[in-house]
Amino acid sequence: MLAMNYRGPKRVRIDHKPMPEILHPEDAIVRVTRSCICGSDLHLYNGNVPDTRVGMTFGHEFTGEVVEIGAEVTKLKVGDNVLVPFNIACGKCAFCRQELYGNCHEANSQATAVGGIFGYSHTAGGYNGGQAEYVRVPYANVGPTVIPEGMDLDDAVMLTDVVPTGYQAAEMGGIQKGDTVMVFGAGPVGIMAARCAWLFGAGRVIIIDHVEYRLEFARNYAQCEAYNFNEIGDPAVFAKKTTDSLGVDVCIDAVGAEAAGNAMQTITGRKMLLQAGSATALHWAINCVKKGGIVSIVGVYGPTDNLVPIGNVVNKGITIRANQASVKRLLPRLIKHVQDGVLDPKALITHRLPLEEVAEGYRLFATKLDNCIKPVLIPPSAKL
Ligand SMILES: NC(=O)c1ccc[n+]([C@@H]2O[C@H](COP(=O)([O-])OP(=O)(O)OC[C@H]3O[C@@H](n4cnc5c(N)ncnc54)[C@H](O)[C@@H]3O)[C@@H](O)[C@H]2O)c1
Ligand SMILES: [Zn+2]
Ligand SMILES: [Zn+2]
Repeated sequence: MLAMNYRGPKRVRIDHKPMPEILHPEDAIVRVTRSCICGSDLHLYNGNVPDTRVGMTFGHEFTGEVVEIGAEVTKLKVGDNVLVPFNIACGKCAFCRQELYGNCHEANSQATAVGGIFGYSHTAGGYNGGQAEYVRVPYANVGPTVIPEGMDLDDAVMLTDVVPTGYQAAEMGGIQKGDTVMVFGAGPVGIMAARCAWLFGAGRVIIIDHVEYRLEFARNYAQCEAYNFNEIGDPAVFAKKTTDSLGVDVCIDAVGAEAAGNAMQTITGRKMLLQAGSATALHWAINCVKKGGIVSIVGVYGPTDNLVPIGNVVNKGITIRANQASVKRLLPRLIKHVQDGVLDPKALITHRLPLEEVAEGYRLFATKLDNCIKPVLIPPSAKL
């Protein structure tokens, strides 16, 4: 089968790989119909995630048709069209029982923090991902969800990560009616977080980035204010000025480890790897939020220490909430939001490429060319 193959930082290609096989009675094999490239994949692509091995296939956002099931799969049948949450979760461990599907202990038992994620390095369990024609889906009774009749596959694939992550970012912000919410990062996740902030009752939503076409997209899609951090000066001063000196109620970090905007963070975090990525957006979030406010982090950071203004967290009494999105927990309400037209996730997809052009997809998305917001790959065997 055709599959994306990681060859080292900034080098990916399409290759022929062996077909995946059922390795456990709860596995299913899925023929991929849609597979997105995510900002999280860029951390892998740029070589910033520990234990990303050459030969790995990325891809944690995919839909597909079930073509084979193991003997203990009862919730799916061959022929089902499914959307597959990016978290790999056993459904039974102490964390899954709390619906913390992003923190499953069984799917990645060697790790203390992150659970299992498709195509996301051996740090996240070493599972191959869905930027391929076929993929092995473990714990197939838990994650894969049959796509409701009539739902567009482009909407379905966005429900595997971007929609739940944006939604959970807003949810973790504990937004109260009328709150001012400031979102860092106008990528697909930040734009969705800004959109969802309104659903929780925000009175004002501001998004910050430095890529103009993304700011413009966010203004239209999320109906929010959008500012270029290269033009507003120190974001903390800007936040104070625009809120009668108080600071914003809720900040959302939808940037993560590869933030731009601060030379010291960029050099120590992205060039010299002295810390687990550049914490610029998190820094700004902590400094822009009001005293007693909430900072919600969905941007991905590596496991080791970051240069974070922890003193400000303590002195301002900030609550920090963060996690990988718990996709399965949120799916019922988000499927309904899509069906009811409350959310229109497929509008974020700007580029559709054949899987064979995966390298071009990464290049476009990573370098923010051609007004790219979200690329989706379509395998030749998708037959659609
Ligand atoms: N927690 C989760 O479950 C989860 C799921 C999906 C993605 N993520 C993470 O969310 C983040 C965003 O994902 P995406 O797909 O939208 O990525 P993306 O790379 O498309 O978007 C990130 C945006 O941040 C902007 N940016 C860079 N530095 C900034 C700064 N200092 N302030 C404000 N904006 C800045 C970039 O210009 C870019 O537009 C990534 O870190 C990704 O790994 C987390
Ligand atoms: Zn993703
Ligand atoms: Zn579990």
